[in-house]
Amino acid sequence: MDVLRAEGLSKHFGGLIAVNEVNFHIKQDETAGIIGPNGSGKTTFFNLLSGFFPPTAGRIIFLGNDITLIPPNKRVMQGMVRTFQLVSVFNTMTVWENLVLSTIRFRREQTKPNRFFLSSAKDEGIRKNCLEALKLVGLESRAMTLTSELAYGSKRMLEIGIALSLNPKLLLLDEPLSGLSDSEISEVLNLLHRIKKNLTLVIIEHKLSKIVDLVDRLCVLNEGKFICEGKPDQVLEDSSVRECYWGKEEIDQRAT
Ligand SMILES: Nc1ncnc2c1ncn2[C@@H]1O[C@H](COP(=O)(O)OP(=O)(O)OP(=O)(O)O)[C@@H](O)[C@H]1O
Ligand SMILES: [Mg+2]
Repeated sequence: MDVLRAEGLSKHFGGLIAVNEVNFHIKQDETAGIIGPNGSGKTTFFNLLSGFFPPTAGRIIFLGNDITLIPPNKRVMQGMVRTFQLVSVFNTMTVWENLVLSTIRFRREQTKPNRFFLSSAKDEGIRKNCLEALKLVGLESRAMTLTSELAYGSKRMLEIGIALSLNPKLLLLDEPLSGLSDSEISEVLNLLHRIKKNLTLVIIEHKLSKIVDLVDRLCVLNEGKFICEGKPDQVLEDSSVRECYWGKEEIDQRAT
């Protein structure tokens, strides 16, 4: 069964067509990569899927239900979780507080409105869930560290940890490797290789060489349209893909 299907999805910003009648689907436990030049509509596509913008046209089917018009937080509660091109965590909170806050915010059960959120960290279910996520991303020794003190790569790991703590049925990662050092990239890739077996994952990435081994399928977006998709090696040999990347080092360095 398809976990997600986008049908004829478009987004116009005035006269600019950022996403142009896109069709996309992903099966359970599949890992798909989305690549494409700057400004080709990758992030806008994620913004449509996750409900940050209403589409100009088209519809989104998630786990068999039409979610085109439902708000972003409800999509998260149904299991669609995303991370952002620029890491999005609360710098003024500790690592642990970031995790607990997200877990409580997106819980299906209502928390009592008069209950201060951190007191809910005593809830054994929440505590266990957050601790597991923290261990998965290797940040357990940093639990009480103020997030602003973390290196960018650790913030990225925290952001992914938060996403995983929400038990996603579909995880959307927008350029999770951007801005990271080589060793931080290895850590994030290592994590993604470990978790991808039991996860449906869509990853936008510029660093093609880093994801060819990770993804089952690669989709190339150019000027708001998917121009090619298939096994990573075949896609990277495709002449239309090479043309839209012409002169860009990413393609030629893919074997490095
Ligand atoms: N909120 C917005 N308002 C107006 N135009 C926008 C908005 N968001 C994106 N765009 C435009 O839509 C196009 C696609 O942008 P988008 O951010 O989706 O590209 P991208 O493929 O993610 O690029 P990058 O690789 O640089 O992250 C660009 O021309 C961009 O300027
Ligand atoms: Mg982008």
